Amino acid sequence: MNILEKHNQVAAVGFLDVNVNPRLDLFAEIERLKAEKNAIILAHYYQDSDIQDIADYIGDSLGLAQFAEKTQADMILFAGVHFMAETAKILNPTKKVLLPDLNAGCSLSDSCPPEDFTAFKAQYPDHKVVSYVNCSAGIKALSDVICTSSNAEFIVNSFPKEQPLIFAPDKNLGRYISLKTGRDMVLWNGSCMVHEVFSHKRIVELKLRYPQAEIIAHPECEAHILEMANFIGSTTALLKYAVKSTCDTFIVVTESGILHQMQKDAPHKHFIPAPSNGTCACNSCPHMKLNTLEKIYIALKYETPEITMPEDIRLKALQPIQRMLEISAAAGL
Ligand code: 13P
Ligand code: SF4
Repeated sequence: MNILEKHNQVAAVGFLDVNVNPRLDLFAEIERLKAEKNAIILAHYYQDSDIQDIADYIGDSLGLAQFAEKTQADMILFAGVHFMAETAKILNPTKKVLLPDLNAGCSLSDSCPPEDFTAFKAQYPDHKVVSYVNCSAGIKALSDVICTSSNAEFIVNSFPKEQPLIFAPDKNLGRYISLKTGRDMVLWNGSCMVHEVFSHKRIVELKLRYPQAEIIAHPECEAHILEMANFIGSTTALLKYAVKSTCDTFIVVTESGILHQMQKDAPHKHFIPAPSNGTCACNSCPHMKLNTLEKIYIALKYETPEITMPEDIRLKALQPIQRMLEISAAAGL
C-alpha cells in the first residue's frame, strides 16, 4: 500500500486497516516503536486494561491535558477519544498527535455542534461560556474557559458572582456544579450516553446486598444517581478516594475501565461496577473501546491517523484551555 492509498483509507474508515502478523508480540513492538520515535502513549482510565498497562501516563481529562502540555516527546499517541487527542494537539502544534481510530468520538461532544451553539450563545450576549473539555475544538474556540470534572467548581468560582454563565455541553455536570457553587447557570442540553444509563433501582438492590459498600460516582451521572453517592468526583478523584477510604467495598458508578486501576492500587478491596438499565454492557464506552493494541501498533508504525485542525480554530481554542490550566495550577490541581 503506498502513501496515497494509506491516506485514502484513513480518510474513508478512520484508521489504517493493514494485516498484522498474529504472532507478533505487540507489547514488545509498541515499546520498540515508542523508543525509536521518541513517542509516548497517554491513556484515559476508560481504556482496556492492556492499553492502560502499556501507557506512559494514565489519567483523567485534566491530568492528561497537563501531561500533554509538558511532554518532551516528539510524538503523542492518545489512547482516548477524539476531543482528548485534539486538546493535546492544540497544546502541541509542532508535535505529531496520533489517535488509533478517528471514529473514537464522544456522545457528549457530538451533542453540541458549533453552528447550533453559536446561535444558542447569541441569545445570551452578557454571558461568559464555561465549556467542559468533552467538546470539539470548534466549541472550545467559542468558549471563555474550559473545565474538566476535576476543576469545574474552581473554574466556575473564578468568575465574579454577578457574572452570568453558560455551561456546556454536559447538563448533568452543569447541574451538579450549579448546586455546589450556588450559581444559576444556563445549561446546554447535552449528556454522556454511558453515564445516563445507570439504573437507580439496580444500584439500590446492590446497596441492599452490600450494605457496607460506598457508592462512588462521576458527576456526569444524572441527579437521582448522584443523590445516592457517598463520594462524587472525576475518575482520578474516585480512584484516590477508593484507595484512601477505610471502606473496603465500592459500587463504582462510572465507565467500567476505571476498575482496572482501582483493583491494581487497592488489590484487597472489592469494586463492583454499577449496573445499567437493561442487559447491555452500557457502562462500557463504545468510543473509548474502539482503540485496540493492534490499532496502537499500526498507528505508531505508520504514524497515522494524525490529528489536524485549521490553525485559526487551534489558536482560538488554545486560549480557554490555557486559562483552565492557569486556574488549575493556581488552585494546586
Ligand atoms: P474525567 O476524565 O474528567 O474523569 O471525565 C470522564 C470522561 O467521561 C471522559 O470522557
Ligand atoms: Fe464521551 Fe461518555 Fe464516552 Fe466519556 S464516557 S468519552 S463522556 S461518551
